Amino acid sequence: MTCHSIPVIAIDGPSASGKGTVAALVAQRLGFHCLDSGALYRLTALVANSNGVALSDEAGLAQVALSLDVEFVAGGMTLMGRPVDEAMRSEAISAAASRVAQYHGVRMALLARQRAFRQAPGLVADGRDMGSVVFPDACLKLYLTASVEMRAERRYKQLMEKGIHVILRNLLDELRERDLRDATRQLAPLIQQADAILLDTSQMTIAEAVEFVLVHYEKVRVRE
Ligand code: C5P
Repeated sequence: MTCHSIPVIAIDGPSASGKGTVAALVAQRLGFHCLDSGALYRLTALVANSNGVALSDEAGLAQVALSLDVEFVAGGMTLMGRPVDEAMRSEAISAAASRVAQYHGVRMALLARQRAFRQAPGLVADGRDMGSVVFPDACLKLYLTASVEMRAERRYKQLMEKGIHVILRNLLDELRERDLRDATRQLAPLIQQADAILLDTSQMTIAEAVEFVLVHYEKVRVRE
């Protein structure tokens, strides 16, 4: 694997594996940009929902994805100039995002937008197909996962801390359903690529996971 002049660290993995948090912290430590690609699918679902575009309307959804007026700003993102609130992280939008993400038209509409995040001095990108489709030449690829029970528990705690009440059992079922849809879809399915390093965080803290990524990145850098 060789590094493009602007290095990318690709972190893929299932929902609620902690990859977003790890990616943001690694980016912070390296002074790199960060791409939360799932946010683009979530925002597409959110805007489609408020504009009355059906989740079965591929052309309509692709148009929404293409014209998303989103800006990534310090500490979050804005949609049509307004800060995006927690609605984007709700379980309903999570499920809708995973349905929207099955369409070729939507994935193509978001491709160039994602690639535009590759800016000096480097990028940490998290999602499902960062290492396989969006940045196949990433200098470091990781597949970050944890058991589905652990992921459901973590998500449950996060939501409870935000005052959002959910039933753990339902969360577990929803995660399983979303994992299955993401892993078995025809386009850019979620699978561990042969060139991605497995990082199972079931028994790890976030800080340990961040160190793991930084140590591997250092090895790649030294080899370059
Ligand atoms: O990562 P996050 O849970 O925010 O992603 C929401 C949904 O967007 C996922 O369930 C997945 O279906 C989709 N997604 C994708 N490709 C990506 C990132 C997210 O298909 N690179």
